Amino acid sequence: PMSPLTAVIDLDLPGPRISRHVYGHFAEHLGRCIYGGFFVGDSDDIPNEGGIRLDVVDALRALQIPNLRWPGGCFADDYHWRDGVGPRESRPRMVNSHWGDVVEDNSFGTHEFLQLCELLGAAPYINGNVGSGTVRETSEWVEYLTRGDDSPMAALRREHGRDEPWSVPFFGIGNEPWGCGGNMTAAQYTHLARQYATYIRDHGETAVTRIAAGANVDDYLWTETLMQALSGLGGTDRRDLFQALSLHYYTYNGSWSDKGDATEFGTDDHYVTMKRALRMRELLSGHAAVMDAYDPERTVGLVVDEWGTWWNVEQGTNPGFLYQQNAMRDALVASVHFDIFHGFAERITMANIAQTVNVLQAVILTDPDSGALVLTPTYHVFAMNVGHHDADRLPLTFKGTVPTLSVEGTDVPLVSASASTKGDTALVSLSNLDADENRTIVLDLRGRDVVGHSATLLNAPTLQSHNTPEHPDAVAPVEHTGVRSHPGGLAVDLPAHSYVTVSLHLR
Ligand code: AHR
Repeated sequence: PMSPLTAVIDLDLPGPRISRHVYGHFAEHLGRCIYGGFFVGDSDDIPNEGGIRLDVVDALRALQIPNLRWPGGCFADDYHWRDGVGPRESRPRMVNSHWGDVVEDNSFGTHEFLQLCELLGAAPYINGNVGSGTVRETSEWVEYLTRGDDSPMAALRREHGRDEPWSVPFFGIGNEPWGCGGNMTAAQYTHLARQYATYIRDHGETAVTRIAAGANVDDYLWTETLMQALSGLGGTDRRDLFQALSLHYYTYNGSWSDKGDATEFGTDDHYVTMKRALRMRELLSGHAAVMDAYDPERTVGLVVDEWGTWWNVEQGTNPGFLYQQNAMRDALVASVHFDIFHGFAERITMANIAQTVNVLQAVILTDPDSGALVLTPTYHVFAMNVGHHDADRLPLTFKGTVPTLSVEGTDVPLVSASASTKGDTALVSLSNLDADENRTIVLDLRGRDVVGHSATLLNAPTLQSHNTPEHPDAVAPVEHTGVRSHPGGLAVDLPAHSYVTVSLHLR
């Protein structure tokens, strides 16, 4: 028989740190993400604190979510923060023109978001308004959030019931300015980003990371234009501008107007999905190469603050609410993204899946009628990867032929893997993207003694399998028994379309 594929892992050669912030999240005022998802207001039926659903908080705490981006997305460039502070009953209403054209009552605002972050133990990433806002508005928001003395905005915050400033380590300078955030050119936005960044001041103890709104997909010129703005500036002057820039890339099948369904799809569709998810590697190589040319010391972070699957909405739901189911296929999209992000740990300082609850590739779905909460297959990938947070990437190279499949003219690898180490542990991630074939991967573990191991398997009868209130555990992780000793390491069985993590105890 053919010798099995081998993954060589050098346990004694830790590389760059994988920031826990790569496991970040995104919550927009969109559909049922905030309202009905995170926030139930005065509901008597669903246990909550200040309107924030406690079951959602508990589920996310188990993932140790490191940060949460808010309030958008496209919504951010329509949002005026002053409308969302002060007594709820007197907050003005607005139209959420991007998402369903519904009326937003501003009952979830700055204080509610920061309370949510405190409950989650997550760092707030607030996205400011450049598209329809003002420099003054942005500047005062940052003062309101982070200033401790008796400045006008700190005093206003106290009037609204919060004495201490919050720590807001991440602040976004607009969102998708090339599209919904103002239809700007790269040059036009870059000028504005420089101007806005100047007024996003460090008031408190935390030095805020200003994140310039970056490219759509493969718009390398956008990245180059932003990087040119920093060119020739020393470290101190750079502090006055931005310290990171973003990238948005979504995975879907078919075309933008017909992206395919979350659970009704064929095997060929699955492979197209995998091809497009794996494109993230090409995009990161391209953007990182541009950044390297201007910033070889890698002081500027790349923040993938929107990624994930984007399918047609579920039948009968509001097309503006972007509500979709989440299947075993989505879990594999997530697992390969994380392998890719780990591979770019030198440059990627944050990533945010879109979006945490009830929108796009959600980790949590809530039933609009019963309120029941469902953890999606994607949730379980986040849970299985907690060991990669702030761990050091390990070199992993395949020996033997990696199986591939030609999809739309591209050779798509059918396995994906990555590894990291922290202290006397290591975590290995293995995805089998093959729809039908089981596969065994031998881990050739070098450099340190492995004194124990355990493994977790995420798999389901089909790629379309998903969780519902009736069957919440149709796709759920189990202890994996398909791991055996093998000369020099371990042999790991990967069922068709499965994700496996192997935890190693090292000496
Ligand atoms: O995540 C949904 C939307 O996708 C966001 O609002 C926008 O930034 C992107 O186009």
